[in-house]
Amino acid sequence: MAAHIVIAIDGPAASGKSSVARALARRLRYRYVNTGAMYRAVTWLAVSRHVDPKNADAVHLLLDATRIECGFDAAGESTILLDGMDPTAHLSDGAVNASVSSIASIPDVRRTLVAIQRASCTESDVVMEGRDIGSAVFPETPYKFYIDATLEVRAARRQKQGVADKIEARDKQDSTRPMSPLIIAEDAHVVDSSHLTIDGVVGEIIGRLKLKNLALPEGI
Ligand code: CDP
Repeated sequence: MAAHIVIAIDGPAASGKSSVARALARRLRYRYVNTGAMYRAVTWLAVSRHVDPKNADAVHLLLDATRIECGFDAAGESTILLDGMDPTAHLSDGAVNASVSSIASIPDVRRTLVAIQRASCTESDVVMEGRDIGSAVFPETPYKFYIDATLEVRAARRQKQGVADKIEARDKQDSTRPMSPLIIAEDAHVVDSSHLTIDGVVGEIIGRLKLKNLALPEGI
């Protein structure tokens, strides 16, 4: 059971989850946890140490030998250090995009990172984004959102960011893996962000949270 309120934001690649989750957390004055960044960080580690991301045993050994420190920065956003190194600058590298779904399908990796994710709400309320937050990490939270957008819109958004990313292939791999695949949790509220601004999506989520009688900071 979560010690604090958890708002789960899930969805496919480049659906706008990060921007929405960060903006929502700021408005509510919650902390923001980017679980994709954790899977990306482990992927960067494997790639930079020349460990094959498809070799589950080798990745497991690497993970066992690595000190993982997760926390929050002054703005309340999740941080990760691997053996004291900050991988932030590399998380959107083409090589990371190409291998992150393989790394994320390894059960040992998921178990390790999910334990960290569950511990991250022990001190404060959080907005947590990912693929399996509402379905597997915090299935008991009543606040679940699934942010979607058409493949065309999502591909255009990613292209604008100027990095190589085969989002359709990543979605397929994420949706078909055996352990906690990307699904729409039964009780999630789906928001199609194809024609909405970030503020528009955040507004829809806040409206829904009000309907669920979640106590929000004054003025919202
Ligand atoms: O930003 P984008 O939506 O493209 O991806 P992300 O949220 O940074 O996630 C990168 C990858 O991490 C996904 O394609 C999944 O393979 C994996 N992931 C996951 O398996 N479970 C999560 N809770 C979050 C991310």
